[in-house]
Amino acid sequence: MPPLAALTAIEAIRAHLAARLAAGREPSPIAAELQNILNLLANVDLRHADEKHLRPSGHPVIRQLQQTPPKNSDASTAAIFRAFLPQLDALPWRYSYTPRPDAPDIGERMAWAELIGPIAPFKSAKVCLGLTAMGPRLLYPRHSHPAVETYLVVSGIAAWTAENTTRRQQPGALILHPANIVHAMETGDEPLLAAYAWTGDVETLSTYENVSIHAP
Ligand SMILES: [Fe+2]
Repeated sequence: MPPLAALTAIEAIRAHLAARLAAGREPSPIAAELQNILNLLANVDLRHADEKHLRPSGHPVIRQLQQTPPKNSDASTAAIFRAFLPQLDALPWRYSYTPRPDAPDIGERMAWAELIGPIAPFKSAKVCLGLTAMGPRLLYPRHSHPAVETYLVVSGIAAWTAENTTRRQQPGALILHPANIVHAMETGDEPLLAAYAWTGDVETLSTYENVSIHAP
């Protein structure tokens, strides 16, 4: 497939993050990381895509997202969701870790589409950019990784836990996970769509219940 869907999604995320930084209302740790992400993205070569990481996956969680109109979105994130929606089917969604007995169907209910990174259509060893999709009523259990992680909630309200603090985050929320912090998400009645960026050590896999995965 041509890389149009991936490029459209990348540009929608990048433009939103740049606008958030320019608005000057983010707390300083998030603003500093947004600047870092944008600087790193500016050096990613978007002219050449690795075709083997561009194959559409048809993951079932995407149908759930397409069938659930977003609620509680501000105008900016609603615009992102509208920009993404036609592209979602064409993105390379994957779920890439060993099944766990306490969540046997988790691989059918959540997925990531990594668009920039070491294992992605557009290569970078310094920054990852992608999307996380989760079906409703799903726990993504506690995990950690050395990369610094920033999430932008695009659609869906979920409970986001970092260490021992849990907050319900609305669309538009920017969430910063410092390196190695333990975090988890649990969706409510709606599916979740969130964009993510990794910086720092983007090569080391996430650790989750003693299983190594490459996932945000
Ligand atoms: Fe993470």
